[in-house]
Amino acid sequence: QHENTIRDEKLMQVCHLLKDNMAQYDWVGFYFKNEDKEELVLGPYAGDPTDHTVIPFGRGICGQVAVSGKNFVVPDVAEQDNYIACSINVRSEIVVPIFVNGENIGQIDIDSNMKDAFSDLDERFLEFVNKEVAKLF
Ligand code: SME
Repeated sequence: QHENTIRDEKLMQVCHLLKDNMAQYDWVGFYFKNEDKEELVLGPYAGDPTDHTVIPFGRGICGQVAVSGKNFVVPDVAEQDNYIACSINVRSEIVVPIFVNGENIGQIDIDSNMKDAFSDLDERFLEFVNKEVAKLF
């Protein structure tokens, strides 16, 4: 229990570091899988509160990544059918899964108020961040 609190504090620091230092990162959060209920649960995040604290596998960008285990970059959220809007200001999004011992346990989700905010470099960078995050589990 105590270890989980320390981990959540570290994850929260990661969220704030990314949001505060990356100009185009406007919302940064972690979702983790609850395999029993086949849903994602919101963990630590930085940015405006969201109503979407629980997301069923398959729903929205996050839910699709829970199923695919693959990065999902959305240059323009307006062009996505299976998308859950958290804020009307959001224009683009990136979701990168977290792997622990080869198992997809959750993901980092980042929203930007700028269209087409995320490149290959963001994917590589966030894969690196998630490898560090995986060490906490
Ligand atoms: N836009 C996400 C939902 C999570 S919010 O961005 C915080 C999606 O479509 O899965």
